[in-house]
Amino acid sequence: MQKEKTFVMIKPDAVQRGIVGEIISRFEKKGIKIVAMKMLSVDRELAEEHYGIHKGKSFFEPTVEYITSSPVVAFILEGNNVIEMVRTMMGKTDPQKAGLGTIRGDFGQFIGRNIIHGSDGADTAKFEINLWFKPEEISKYCRIDEDWLME
Ligand code: RTP
Ligand code: MG
Repeated sequence: MQKEKTFVMIKPDAVQRGIVGEIISRFEKKGIKIVAMKMLSVDRELAEEHYGIHKGKSFFEPTVEYITSSPVVAFILEGNNVIEMVRTMMGKTDPQKAGLGTIRGDFGQFIGRNIIHGSDGADTAKFEINLWFKPEEISKYCRIDEDWLME
């Protein structure tokens, strides 16, 4: 398994509903390392760039409105196979279809208020990390539980 980084964003609905801590806690307990984290209000330009791949689709404009409506918390997470692992922990895009035990399945009800974003592949992760963070905002460190977490 390859060590990799992924970009994660806790969306405005989750910040407003006070579940940021619960979500971060899931990643921490899983043993996934946080290497960058910040709260920010997203402007239209950043939102449009982030969701650029969906430009022209019916949900593009509502999604940009949603993401810019209130602050988000942005992260970079690091670990072995972390991109896929985080997507699995998030659950399906539509919280109604996401399994119980996943973040969207446990906390959400509507596709347009689906709690969390995570990069969907290696190229997207690279693009999103560069878009949201400066290199100096990313920390390098070892967690003391790493020897006991990993085989
Ligand atoms: P995300 O990018 O936010 O992690 O979500 P995702 O990969 O699971 O889903 P994606 O297809 O990339 O969709 C991006 C976001 O657009 C909104 N959406 N609405 N109404 C709809 O049919 C619809 N489809 C997508 C969601 O907020 C989704 O997270
Ligand atoms: Mg996506």
